Amino acid sequence: MPETLLLIKPDAVERDLIGAIILRLEAAGFKIVELRLVHLNEAEAQRFYQVHEGKPFFDKLVAFMSSSPIVAMVLARENAVSDLRELVGATDPAQAACGTIRQCFGVDVTRNSVHASDSAETAAVEIKFFFPDR
Ligand code: RTP
Ligand code: MG
Repeated sequence: MPETLLLIKPDAVERDLIGAIILRLEAAGFKIVELRLVHLNEAEAQRFYQVHEGKPFFDKLVAFMSSSPIVAMVLARENAVSDLRELVGATDPAQAACGTIRQCFGVDVTRNSVHASDSAETAAVEIKFFFPDR
């Protein structure tokens, strides 16, 4: 079964939205096959988002992602990568479609509550980042 990585970001963990977000994921038919709570340090957040190094929002993104704990999970389902991106919604919650996780829970373009892998190749790398034994 195809797998993808979902992160519940600091803004959502801080607002006690872990359960509400997991409800959405399970209702949409995603199976949680790995799950952990982790507090990234700055170097780890830089490494996870290294594809964005040099962009104007990079430092703010790294500071945010290392500010408090996140939840990392591996989700399995048919079409996991593309269907999870659709359920997550556009990067900016103000632009995200009605009923998406970011539209419902996101605060702004940085504090947008969740991350989802954007391709099968990225998913494989990102799953290894949090679950090296997988
Ligand atoms: P993600 O990687 O977190 O799933 O989000 P995404 O694919 O929808 O967006 P991406 O372009 O990969 O950006 C990664 C994260 O950086 C923050 N961001 N801030 N203009 C801005 O201030 C800006 N643009 C992006 C967001 O937290 C975004 O999710
Ligand atoms: Mg991305």
